[in-house]
Amino acid sequence: MNAYWLDWLNLLGRWVHLITGIAWIGASFYFVWLDNHLLAPRDAGDTDKGISGEVWSVHGGGFYHAQKYRVAPALLPETLHWFKWEAYSTWLSGFFMLCLVYYAGAATYLIDPSVAALTPLEAIAIGLGTLALGWLVYDGLCRSPLGRDDRLLGLAVLALSVFAAWGLTHVFSGRGAFIHYGAMLGTLMVGNVFFVIIPGQRELIKAKLAGREPDPTPGLKAKQRSVHNTYFTLPVIFTMMSNHYALVFNHAYNWVLLIAISIAGAAIRVYFVSRHKGQAKPAALVLGIVMLAGTAIAISPAATPQPPASAAVNPAERFAQVVQIVQTRCVACHAEHPTQTGFAAAPKGVMLDTPTRVETQATLIYQQVSSHAMPLGNITAMTEQERQLIAAWHDAGALSK
Ligand code: HEC
Repeated sequence: MNAYWLDWLNLLGRWVHLITGIAWIGASFYFVWLDNHLLAPRDAGDTDKGISGEVWSVHGGGFYHAQKYRVAPALLPETLHWFKWEAYSTWLSGFFMLCLVYYAGAATYLIDPSVAALTPLEAIAIGLGTLALGWLVYDGLCRSPLGRDDRLLGLAVLALSVFAAWGLTHVFSGRGAFIHYGAMLGTLMVGNVFFVIIPGQRELIKAKLAGREPDPTPGLKAKQRSVHNTYFTLPVIFTMMSNHYALVFNHAYNWVLLIAISIAGAAIRVYFVSRHKGQAKPAALVLGIVMLAGTAIAISPAATPQPPASAAVNPAERFAQVVQIVQTRCVACHAEHPTQTGFAAAPKGVMLDTPTRVETQATLIYQQVSSHAMPLGNITAMTEQERQLIAAWHDAGALSK
């Protein structure tokens, strides 16, 4: 398929993924909120019917009265809504995007020869293996004796995440590693829905229809997995947008940053869940904010030393060098008509094929080059010296004459 139609697949796939992701996480946030706001029913008759809690709310011009049963209603309703396709379609569309961007474009997006000189096939096998193995290990941990202690299990899952972050950043490009870390956590979340939460609900209904008392174990297991999903949410969403932020994914300690941001996201979610329950834990929010701020401060760049006055440079000469570097290293992709195979149009609309375009986009060029985000996978073999020259030009005001 040519690059133009691939771009359309990319556009539509991403759109679907975003929509299904919003539907899933939105519903998930809503139900966590609902569960944590339940109050004892006002009507004693409701308690007799087996209702354990209720919530009143107003939205969209009407009043809603949700009631939760301790186990199940005496009579199952004719229409019962399930919430599962939001999760499945998010995973399916996400997997489609992973294949389209990172596997079809493995050489560009997934492999960084300065990290590990993998062939595309090897890289794809590691990527798919991470998703499958991640689930098997996580599910095994939950089912093991550790699963009886929520805190120990939480620590074990954190250790698994640290290992994945470290391992992935030592085989893939920064952005490829981050997306696989997120895809692995996302797979755990969907696996929880598919293999544990939904079967638990089926068991509840089966017991009800058979007229027997439902076994509470599947329900408790489902609850544990659903709590995990809540705390995975913010870290996963971060990784899904992380490819915009080379300052994080291309840092020498990118795996430490990934874990710090994941913990911050989970802690912030802890705060919101505790607040829903009316037992706000501000310490969790403070921990999240301190970790984010600490991360940002820890990696803030030192000021570039100004060159000594004696090393005065001719701005016009230096600009000519910059244009020449951009011409050699960037323009194969960043031109009105890219010559690099696989590119139908200038990526992100960024064109760098004339001196004027280079001059007006100095800051963008500097950001991408100094963070090593560009050239993508350093496919055009840009040197450190060239990066420094561009930084010096930018820091001196990006003059052209
Ligand atoms: C192999 C093709 C390729 C080469 C060579 C390349 N880029 Fe890019 N560039 C891309 C792609 C693809 C994107 C979009 C990345 C994404 O989806 O996040 C991009 C995005 C950008 C952006 C926009 C970033 C943003 O998120 O807003 C800038 C600026 C940029 N490149 C500058 C450069 C510079 C400067 C060079 C040369 C030093 C360069 N690129 C070399 C493919 C390339």
